[in-house]
Amino acid sequence: DWTMGAYKDEAIAKIREQVGDKQVICGLSGGVDSSVTAVLLHEAIGDQLTCVFVDHGLLRLNEADEVVTMFRDHYNMKLIHADESDLFLGELEGVSDPETKRKTIGKLFIDVFQKYASEIDGAEFLAQGTLYPDVIESVSFSGGPSVTIKSHHNVGGLPEKMGLKLVEPLRELFKDEVRALGHELGLPASFIGRHPFPGPGLAIRCPGEITRDKLEILRKADAVYIDQIRRHELYDEIWQAFVAILPVRTVGVMGDGRTYDYACALRAVTSVDGMTADYYPFSHEFLGETATRIINEVPGINRVTYDITSKPPGTIEWE
Ligand code: XMP
Repeated sequence: DWTMGAYKDEAIAKIREQVGDKQVICGLSGGVDSSVTAVLLHEAIGDQLTCVFVDHGLLRLNEADEVVTMFRDHYNMKLIHADESDLFLGELEGVSDPETKRKTIGKLFIDVFQKYASEIDGAEFLAQGTLYPDVIESVSFSGGPSVTIKSHHNVGGLPEKMGLKLVEPLRELFKDEVRALGHELGLPASFIGRHPFPGPGLAIRCPGEITRDKLEILRKADAVYIDQIRRHELYDEIWQAFVAILPVRTVGVMGDGRTYDYACALRAVTSVDGMTADYYPFSHEFLGETATRIINEVPGINRVTYDITSKPPGTIEWE
């Protein structure tokens, strides 16, 4: 008679057995998989766990605060908030090529994670939220070792380089089971049901050059859009929804004057695994109301479009 409660107890016992009295590092992104991993580890070994949350300055509105509040204040975990936004945004200055952006972010992420992790005394283990589908995927795609670092943590090859052993307590689970386990561990529904968020963050929702100005506008517009989706109770029907700020300004009218501000695109898709996706068929009322709210509430945007591209041929993200 198998229940998630029993799975949890078993997983905790296994972690204790594997780790003993050693220290464990966990990269926390605030996504479902890493959050459940962290909370499970914390329940198993308490203060032997230190989480590293790398803040690359490409997070959504209030996101860093929410993660820090949840894990440090609510769960009382040892959590390092690595605020490296100046470093990341500095390196990204003038970079507009999508691949270069990703590589820049990925490389810095590894450097930063390694720097903070190496300051944790006596760490012998690295915990990560590898799921069963990740294990399968890494085998069938690369034919190589079945242990790979989840791409969104962007820390490929790091455990070996740092001489760390892996702890992967979610390796036997599918996504819906991870959610059930998170629920069992008392993670709030708002965390468990979150849409996926890519490792490079807002960088790939800001096509072309990234500037602090654009990021600030994008954060505000995205917050209004997600608020609209929640108010209309559509959040759980959608796989992923976000705003992209476009690298173009257009002319508008407001009151007696003309404006010359950024255009943005709303994106929302349904999907099972992110490999294919359909655009979400919002009502025209919803779209109109959302456009009006964004233009009224977000200085810097005067035009809103809706992206009706499915995947393929489009990708979910804009870069
Ligand atoms: P695309 O845009 O390729 O995205 O259709 C499919 C899914 O993957 C996410 N995504 C990423 N996740 N690092 C990640 O962790 C990345 O570099 C990355 N690129 C895309 C995307 O948000 C969607 O869920």
